[in-house]
Amino acid sequence: MKKIAIFGTGYVGLVTGACLASAGMKVVCVDIEERKIKMLEEGECPIIEKDLPERIKKGVKTGNLFFTTDAKTAIEECDVIFIAVGTPTKKDSEEADLSAVFAVAETINKHATKRKIVVQKSTVPVGTGSQIEEFFMGKAEGGHGIAFFHAVVSNPEFLKEGNAVKDFESPDRVVIGTSDEDAKKVMSRIYAPFMRTAVGTTDRMIFMSRPSAELTKVFANTMLAMRISAMNAITELAEKFDADAKEIRKGIGSDSRIGPDFLFPGGATFGGSCFPKDVRALIAVMEKAGIDAKLFREVMNVNREQRMRFVVKIFEQLDCSVSESKIAIWGLSFKPGTDDVREAASLDVVQSILDGGGKVALFDAHAKESFRVAFGERAGVEYCDDQYEAIKGADALVILTDAMEFRSLDFEKLHSLMNKVVICDGKNLHDPEEMANEGVQYVCMGRPVFTAKKST
Ligand SMILES: NC(=O)c1ccc[n+]([C@@H]2O[C@H](COP(=O)([O-])OP(=O)(O)OC[C@H]3O[C@@H](n4cnc5c(N)ncnc54)[C@H](O)[C@@H]3O)[C@@H](O)[C@H]2O)c1
Repeated sequence: MKKIAIFGTGYVGLVTGACLASAGMKVVCVDIEERKIKMLEEGECPIIEKDLPERIKKGVKTGNLFFTTDAKTAIEECDVIFIAVGTPTKKDSEEADLSAVFAVAETINKHATKRKIVVQKSTVPVGTGSQIEEFFMGKAEGGHGIAFFHAVVSNPEFLKEGNAVKDFESPDRVVIGTSDEDAKKVMSRIYAPFMRTAVGTTDRMIFMSRPSAELTKVFANTMLAMRISAMNAITELAEKFDADAKEIRKGIGSDSRIGPDFLFPGGATFGGSCFPKDVRALIAVMEKAGIDAKLFREVMNVNREQRMRFVVKIFEQLDCSVSESKIAIWGLSFKPGTDDVREAASLDVVQSILDGGGKVALFDAHAKESFRVAFGERAGVEYCDDQYEAIKGADALVILTDAMEFRSLDFEKLHSLMNKVVICDGKNLHDPEEMANEGVQYVCMGRPVFTAKKST
């Protein structure tokens, strides 16, 4: 089997490396962050991801998985090179910042002394594979005009943080964009261990052209984001007529043409390192190509406006002014089971409360440290180790993820610890009528409001 190098040991690169290694392949994971490589070499996993530490341990123990910052040696020794570095939104535009991807391409160009199969796994705008190829072929500025050509394959990743190992090992599909026959064979062998459970004749390995593969990834995320925004777009109307968006979701989700997934309404709208930046990147590519992206622009507008509408609702529930309030927040990551807080609702909600002069007490089982790093040390922010510690003396509790521990509530503690039992549920986890019966002043998005029964 060919030896594999993976550039980027983040959520995608590390999961890919660990899963391939524990399936028996020889893998070296390369990163420019020495801290991460050192942690990995010392047996620590730098991110929170279910089952990942076990896969890393297995890979290392079997002598299949290595970590390094030495890009040159990794390139020289490996025949297949995955690029799995970040492609965030640029600071000054909606375009994807491809500088890390091209930095790796440049390193490959510099050190490769024979043909490599370069597998582009980072999410990139359509046409990026061709740009990399042109760069390799010496057509683009900075190319070295080498006498052999690397194959450039698009192999976008569809894993979900929090479930990444399972998604990688049992994928719905593996998309491979290339017309290079040798690369097709090599990619088939790499993914073969994860294709054993294909149902019946269903082939989960999908070969297509490189631009189709690039566009498939960005459009898949845009489509999922669009479903969430479509559901959120109906909540304001539902509220005006006492309709229940949760019931509507069931009603439409039972239609096999629609399905129930990614249709959860709420105020903690989509975030993370993928959906927002991928929708923005698609808009940017379309507009650059002279195509009106108004549908996708609205996906982002609805997402932002719904989040802000939720913040207004939180403030409306307070008996005191925001500046006199202490608000407990449960859930800081963009979704449960990860420490990733990129573009998480928590960042906007906490910022809005602090802007209003209020104080916050924060709880998250995994993401406290990453939130602290992303948000910085600020006055008025308290980090708590226990979810009920956060609500002590609070004027409201705001729920921002659907973590399991937030799905059932200890009403005795809520009543004894909070100043007033007000719950603003950004994930619509609870039943408004039941909450009212428990004496909770409860608000969420797109559902009827009931008056709290017992005194709070
Ligand atoms: N996170 C997800 O859930 C997910 C899912 C599917 C696809 N993607 C896509 O995969 C890509 C990677 O995402 P991520 O979340 O793993 O990113 P990440 O930010 O977690 O990790 C990227 C890693 O790349 C490293 N890096 C940067 N430049 C490098 C270089 N020149 N050489 C070696 N390493 C370098 C960084 O130090 C970092 O460790 C992105 O394009 C993303 O859109 C992410």
